[in-house]
Amino acid sequence: MSIRVGVVGGRGVVGRELLRLLDGHPDVVLAFASSTESGTPLSDLLPGTRFSGSTTAMSPAQLSDHELDVLLLAAPNGQAASFAQAVAPQTATIDLSSDHRFVDDWHYGLVELAKPRQPRLMRVANPGCYATGAQLGLHPWLPVMGGVPSVFGVSGYSGAGSKPSPKNDPARLADNLMPYGLVDHTHEQEIHRHLGQRVMFMPHVAPFFVGITLTISVPLRAPATPDELHDRMVDAYRGEALVHVQRDIPEVSAARGRHGVTIGGIEVHPSGSHAVVVVTLDNLLKGAATQAVQNMNLMMGRPELMGIAVEQR
Ligand SMILES: NC(=O)c1ccc[n+]([C@@H]2O[C@H](COP(=O)([O-])OP(=O)(O)OC[C@H]3O[C@@H](n4cnc5c(N)ncnc54)[C@H](OP(=O)(O)O)[C@@H]3O)[C@@H](O)[C@H]2O)c1
Repeated sequence: MSIRVGVVGGRGVVGRELLRLLDGHPDVVLAFASSTESGTPLSDLLPGTRFSGSTTAMSPAQLSDHELDVLLLAAPNGQAASFAQAVAPQTATIDLSSDHRFVDDWHYGLVELAKPRQPRLMRVANPGCYATGAQLGLHPWLPVMGGVPSVFGVSGYSGAGSKPSPKNDPARLADNLMPYGLVDHTHEQEIHRHLGQRVMFMPHVAPFFVGITLTISVPLRAPATPDELHDRMVDAYRGEALVHVQRDIPEVSAARGRHGVTIGGIEVHPSGSHAVVVVTLDNLLKGAATQAVQNMNLMMGRPELMGIAVEQR
C-alpha cells in the first residue's frame, strides 16, 4: 500500500530536498506540499517531477482535509508545533524543526544511534544538521573521553534557510566566515541532551551554499593510538550504509549531494592528551531530508533506505 505523505514547508530549502526524495520513493503518494502562499507549481520547485499540482497555503486546522499516513514538518522553528498538535493521532509525524527535539514523548530520530523500530512510534523529532554530524562523530568515543570536547562547525548558508538574514546574504558572506551562537547554541544543548555529554560547540557560516564540516577535539581519558580510535568508529558503524569512516581528512566539497556522513582524519596529539576527528555531511540530506526519509521508512515498516540511493564507497 502507498504511503500518503503531506509536507508542510515544501517551498523551503529543506522542503525541496524532501520533495525530491519523495518523488523518487517507490511507495509515496504526495497528498500536499504547503507553504505560506498557494500556487507555486511543484514542477517549478522540482523540474521533471511526477507530482502534479501546486503548493497550498494551509492552516493547522486544514490538515483534517487530507487523509495522511505521514506528515513531514519542514516549517521554521516555532511554526511546526501547531501542525503537530492539529494532526490526527493516527498520522505518523516527523518534525524537521527543533520544536520537539527537547520533548520527552517524542522519539529523537538519529537513526544510526536509535532506530525507531517500535511499530506504533508516531512522533519523531528529526535531529539538527550540526547535531547529527557531531553526535555520530562523538558517540563511539564516549568510553574513552576524558573531558568536554570542542566542536568547531562550519556550515554552508543554506543552513540559515531562505528567509533573508545576514547568515544567508551572499554579499556579506563573500570572502568571509561568520562566527555566531558561540556558547550554548541550541545544537550544543541538543547534543548534550541526546548524547549525555557536554560539548563546547562553535558554529560558523561560510560562503558556500551546502555542506557542513565539523572539526572535533576530544580530551582522552588515557592515551590511545589513532588506529584504536579509528577501529572504534569502524566497529560502531559496521552495517550502517550512511556512515563512511575513512583514514583521510574528509573535505566538505565532497559531502554535497551525498546522503551520508563521512568521518575521518583521526589524529592523536603526541602527548596522548587529545584526539581530533573531522566529520562532513550535506546539511539538507543526512542533516535533514535523508534522515527524515530514513525515519519515515522505519515508522512505516519499510526498509530503512527505500528511496535513498546509497552509493558504494
Ligand atoms: N536548512 C537546513 O540546513 C536545515 C537542516 C535541518 C533542519 N532544518 C529545519 O528545517 C526547517 C525548514 O528549514 P529551511 O532551511 O528549509 O527553511 P526555509 O527555506 O526558510 O523554508 C521554510 C518553509 O516553511 C514555510 N513556512 C513558513 N511559515 C510557515 C507556516 N506558518 N506554515 C507553513 N509553512 C510555513 C515557508 O513557506 P514560504 O516558502 O511560503 O515562505 C518555507 O516553505 C526549519 O525548522 C529548520 O530549522 C533546516
